Amino acid sequence: MHPMLNIAVRAARKAGNLIAKNYETPDAVEASQKGSNDFVTNVDRDAERLIIEVIRKSYPKHTIITEESGELAGEDQDIQWVIDPLDGTTNFIKRLPHFSVSIAVRIKGRTEVAVVYDPMRNELFTAVRGQGAQLNGYRLRGSTARDLDGTILATGFPFKLKQHATPYINIVGKLFTQCADFRRTGSAALDLAYTAAGRVDGFFEIGLKPWDFAAGELLVREAGGLVTDFTGNHGYVMSGNIVAGNPRVVKAMLASMREELSEALKR
Ligand code: IPD
Ligand code: CA
Ligand code: CA
Ligand code: CA
Repeated sequence: MHPMLNIAVRAARKAGNLIAKNYETPDAVEASQKGSNDFVTNVDRDAERLIIEVIRKSYPKHTIITEESGELAGEDQDIQWVIDPLDGTTNFIKRLPHFSVSIAVRIKGRTEVAVVYDPMRNELFTAVRGQGAQLNGYRLRGSTARDLDGTILATGFPFKLKQHATPYINIVGKLFTQCADFRRTGSAALDLAYTAAGRVDGFFEIGLKPWDFAAGELLVREAGGLVTDFTGNHGYVMSGNIVAGNPRVVKAMLASMREELSEALKR
């Protein structure tokens, strides 16, 4: 196994076990608000601490970027660990059992290793660049849909970015006339992992952060899928506006979305 994948898996499992244990004891969970509709708990922070500890032990010089601590610059800036310790915090707080740990390793800006772990189902999604994507050791292949007909699309509402509410609803409205149905699961990392697994045919969301999509993006690509921004380009690295799925589904989604995009979403 790729040595960094090994460490990423160890860290994700440790954090996932902690999250699952705390899910059973809701009284020990303390939630606070970071911003409008944006929550964090002691479990997000404890899980993050565990992950950082595991990485630091093996790779003390690497840079670590996490949702709750920001950038912990290391001597080695070329290797960055991009981490969401708990993706789906709102589900966790509401006791909806659907959330994940997301860990990616980027070397000189290119994602090499990805792990998304669902501790409630014990599902471990992994990928190494050029070596495919796996779920619990089994090779993943994305959806084989040829167009939007009959597809299930995943998405996330822009609940922190309500300025995008109208174009977002218009995009969903347009796509809904062409696909079979939508899912909104509450963990973007799992939405991307499920896209890689072909459990959903495509995914899109506005304004994701690097830790939400870094691992999931590699999973989708390694399962034969495509990840773009809303205009079919690479701008999502900055904007976090993401469309993912097999290349035919992405192409159909982009065509459908085109007329509904506001200026701000053409990035
Ligand atoms: C959130 C989840 C959610 C997505 C949001 C993310 P968090 O991450 O991935 O599905 O819709 O955009 O911020 O805050 O629970 O780690
Ligand atoms: Ca969060
Ligand atoms: Ca997240
Ligand atoms: Ca998070």
